[in-house]
Amino acid sequence: MDDIVSEAKPLLRRSTLLALIISAVMILVASLSLLHLRREAIDTQGRELRLLSLALTAEVGRGLQGVDEGFRAMQTELREGRLPTSGPLAGRVLKTHVDLMPMVQNLWLFDEQGQVLAAADASAPPSLASFAPSLDSLQGDRVAISRPYSAISGAPAKVAMAAHFPADAGRPGGWIVAALPAESLLGAFSIASPAPDARMAVFRTDGVRLAGAIVAGAKISEEQLARRLAAMQDSAVRHFHDDSERLVAMHSLQQFGIDVVLTRDLGVMLVSWRQAVRLTLAVVAFLLLVLAVSVYYIVRADTRRARAQQALQAQQARSSKFSSLGALAGAVAHDFNNVLAAIVGYGEMAQDAAVEGSAQRRHLDMVIKAALRGKTLVARILTFSGGGARASTSFELKPIVEEVLAMLEGSLPAGIRLQRQLEIGQGRASGDPTQAFEAIMNLCTNAMQAMPSGGALTVSLRRVQVAQARILSHSRLEAGAYLELSVADEGRGISPEVMEHLFEPFFTTRAKEAGTGLGLAVVHGVVSEFNGAIDVRSKLGRGSVFTIFLPESTDTDDDGQLAATPAAGAPQTVMVIDDDPDLVAMVEEMLTDMGYSTVGYTESPSALQALLAEPQRYALVITDEVMPSLSGTALAQVVHAQLPDLPLVLLSGYGGPLMAAKATAAGVSQLMLKPLRREELVQVMEELLPRA
Ligand SMILES: Nc1ncnc2c1ncn2[C@@H]1O[C@H](COP(=O)(O)OP(=O)(O)OP(=O)(O)O)[C@@H](O)[C@H]1O
Ligand SMILES: [Mg+2]
Repeated sequence: MDDIVSEAKPLLRRSTLLALIISAVMILVASLSLLHLRREAIDTQGRELRLLSLALTAEVGRGLQGVDEGFRAMQTELREGRLPTSGPLAGRVLKTHVDLMPMVQNLWLFDEQGQVLAAADASAPPSLASFAPSLDSLQGDRVAISRPYSAISGAPAKVAMAAHFPADAGRPGGWIVAALPAESLLGAFSIASPAPDARMAVFRTDGVRLAGAIVAGAKISEEQLARRLAAMQDSAVRHFHDDSERLVAMHSLQQFGIDVVLTRDLGVMLVSWRQAVRLTLAVVAFLLLVLAVSVYYIVRADTRRARAQQALQAQQARSSKFSSLGALAGAVAHDFNNVLAAIVGYGEMAQDAAVEGSAQRRHLDMVIKAALRGKTLVARILTFSGGGARASTSFELKPIVEEVLAMLEGSLPAGIRLQRQLEIGQGRASGDPTQAFEAIMNLCTNAMQAMPSGGALTVSLRRVQVAQARILSHSRLEAGAYLELSVADEGRGISPEVMEHLFEPFFTTRAKEAGTGLGLAVVHGVVSEFNGAIDVRSKLGRGSVFTIFLPESTDTDDDGQLAATPAAGAPQTVMVIDDDPDLVAMVEEMLTDMGYSTVGYTESPSALQALLAEPQRYALVITDEVMPSLSGTALAQVVHAQLPDLPLVLLSGYGGPLMAAKATAAGVSQLMLKPLRREELVQVMEELLPRA
């Protein structure tokens, strides 16, 4: 598992790095485009604001110009004496001028000591000290502008303008002062604002605000403001004290010493840019998500592939271990089989010859019993090693399972409940039914042994269609139709260490209880013989489930067994061929006992020669399979071609479907498994050579 994770790491690292680079590039490109868009939006809006500011400034300039021209007219009238500096006429003339100057509401004449000489009406004049430039320095055509003031508290603010008139012919010099509503300095802006977020203000160059408001409640000294106004270009983005960012456009009317400032809220101006930002962020986030998900899936697929590959390798290693162990055990069992064959064969003859009830007979019975136990053991070894002669037939699996269950029911230990879930009605498997029985029995026995204090033993059988090949815990399951048999217990479960060796021959944790460790090896051998697969799931302390998959067979005939072709009549001479002289002698003796005459050979080529030389002499041939120069099946092939009616019996330590098929192809009538037992031989001889 760790290996898989570390195997997947470089890919994880590479794809993460790639994803990070792509993300970074994506974010960079998006940010740059957004910044560019923002700059463009600000430039465009800035241009518009500048134009607007210019227009408003020009309008304000025209208004003030009007007042200035009024001043010039009154200066001329003063010089020419048409406007006296005192008396009722002065007031009237001033009143006429008020009516002629559109923005002006009041007019006064002051002498140079600051005394009112004449006024258009009775309203309160502004303080002369509030003018800039100061009135004392005011000469010629220059005009000064006052701070905004209110004649009556609460009334709209006014701003006053002043021009100097010199003393002339006994008439004192002084100032003409005109008051106009502060708001009139805002021109059309006070009537129609271009946008709700637009603000306008008019400042004196010394920082005094004459009209309008840039940001309500700005707390900034007039000196600071003057400095800023002096430094400001005609448009810029400024951060305001209320945390708003505003685009500012400014134009000056130098003649009057005022600056006109127009601002707009950047946030409002950039609304559509913000929408673009939100959209871009959403798209980028979505793309990043897609990227992350893709990386996740790529890495997951790779981990799975690595895991499957590792499982496959482990399984291949296991099966090659099994097959070499199987080959070794099979070879030993094969030789051991010949030894057992002699013991059983001669033992049975001696048994027959011994007097019933004698000590010799009892001893011989024990010898045969022990040899038969050995034969069972050898048969088990041959089962998992893939050897052993056995029939392959297409058979119904359910009755076999039921037979196992019936047998178990008879001897269930206390506390164990048997549950059956045999879902299928019919379903055939192809192989040796006896082997299937043994495999299922072994699984059930193990399950019961795993539950010493009781529990449920569940046996289920169902049909499954496997669409895609997959790796199981201990095999690879190819696609196809299967009969799935599972044996589940609620026992102690299987630890990972045991799991590793589970199916190895002679591996047991029950050595004390005389376990041989062959049970699961046999199951494995049988399942391989059936071309099936095994899966094991287990939870420590909770139980285990062994599932075997046997390919479903579509054959319906039951003729898997080798066809017998009995030859008619006598003479009953049987040829016996085996490279082991002891075995030849034993079989000959058995046959002689049965009333046949025999001819024995230990070398297959000379046996073949003799047979072909005198074909009529022999009623039947019994031959061993494994012999040095010419094997039993090779010999059978030649003989069968020449003498198709001659029954041939093949003796073999190995079997299985392959051996059976090979024998059938060679024309063998009957395949017999070593060690040869007397009753089996009697039965076969009776079948093949029925006596008339
Ligand atoms: N259902 C199960 N629950 C827990 N452990 C199991 C189960 N089946 C098998 N085992 C373990 O696998 C080992 C091998 O099983 P196997 O059937 O091959 O041999 P055995 O049962 O020990 O001996 P034998 O089958 O010859 O009596 C067992 O010893 C046991 O530890
Ligand atoms: Mg067992």
